[in-house]
Amino acid sequence: MNTLKIDNLNLTYKNGYNAINGISLEIKNGMFGLLGPNGAGKSSLMKTIVGLQKPTSGSIAFNDIDVVNDTDYIKKNLGFLPQDFGVYPKVNAYDLLNHIAILKGITEKKERQNQIQNLLEKVNLWNFRDKEVQKFSGGMKQRFGVAQALLGNPKIIIVDEPTAGLDPEERNRFNTLLSDISTEVVVILSTHLVKDVKNLCSEMTIMNRGKVLKTGKPKELIKELEAKIWSKFINNEELETYKLKFNVISQQLIERQLQITIFSTVQLEGFLPIEPNLEHVYFNVLSQNS
Ligand SMILES: Nc1ncnc2c1ncn2[C@@H]1O[C@H](COP(=O)(O)OP(=O)(O)O)[C@@H](O)[C@H]1O
Ligand SMILES: [Mg+2]
Repeated sequence: MNTLKIDNLNLTYKNGYNAINGISLEIKNGMFGLLGPNGAGKSSLMKTIVGLQKPTSGSIAFNDIDVVNDTDYIKKNLGFLPQDFGVYPKVNAYDLLNHIAILKGITEKKERQNQIQNLLEKVNLWNFRDKEVQKFSGGMKQRFGVAQALLGNPKIIIVDEPTAGLDPEERNRFNTLLSDISTEVVVILSTHLVKDVKNLCSEMTIMNRGKVLKTGKPKELIKELEAKIWSKFINNEELETYKLKFNVISQQLIERQLQITIFSTVQLEGFLPIEPNLEHVYFNVLSQNS
């Protein structure tokens, strides 16, 4: 079992902005979802875990090794797919993986060849190994990104908003691939989409403004909301009044009628009870902390 332990982490950027505010988390093997809106601090947290930037204070340990001060261990055992991979060089998929494998310290040629072939097969890119990565579609680039992250059999894999720009089918295939891998390693998936977390992550955390707002198993978090979610169709002009009176967690137009969803621990006249789902969990946590 691998364990990543983050303790009271803080990160203040040079301009004085506090992107991480006292985050503590313990993450074990399996798929861990880091869910939060844009600007929540997800990328800041991930870049700090992988050692691209140093925290202002606090500690990060992977398998009890302090990775802030001793970056060798995490580097050796880490696969990282950043949110923005930048521009790919004009090199084919095979050669680029080979190059990255050498950088990762896989010096033995036969071992490198084996790993590259296995990984390209795993991400369904073996038939495209001679094609320039630059010319890949979005989904293929993301799958290539996973292949490079998996080189060297990492114990921890961190992927930052990997499904952005993928169509639903590609997103499913990509998420399943990650989930298959995650039985033996730590996989941290950051996303602003509840969908990505829903069926895949055994544990999740909701963060915003550099803080952890809620952590738990998706199923249990949903259970906490049982009999507490209510909905009602209202007129547009009533919305402000309802917002003042109730804890409105979301609103949507259904056939041009406005439906509001609210959180309430007591039954409300005129409202219909709703079976809670992970979207309710997410929007309820965000609205109660805004
Ligand atoms: N290098 C930086 N210097 C100053 N502020 C930054 C820097 N990088 C990110 N930020 C700010 O930190 C906040 C969190 O950003 P980020 O970690 O990218 O969030 P997320 O990945 O959840 O969208 C944002 O307000 C962003 O503008
Ligand atoms: Mg980000």
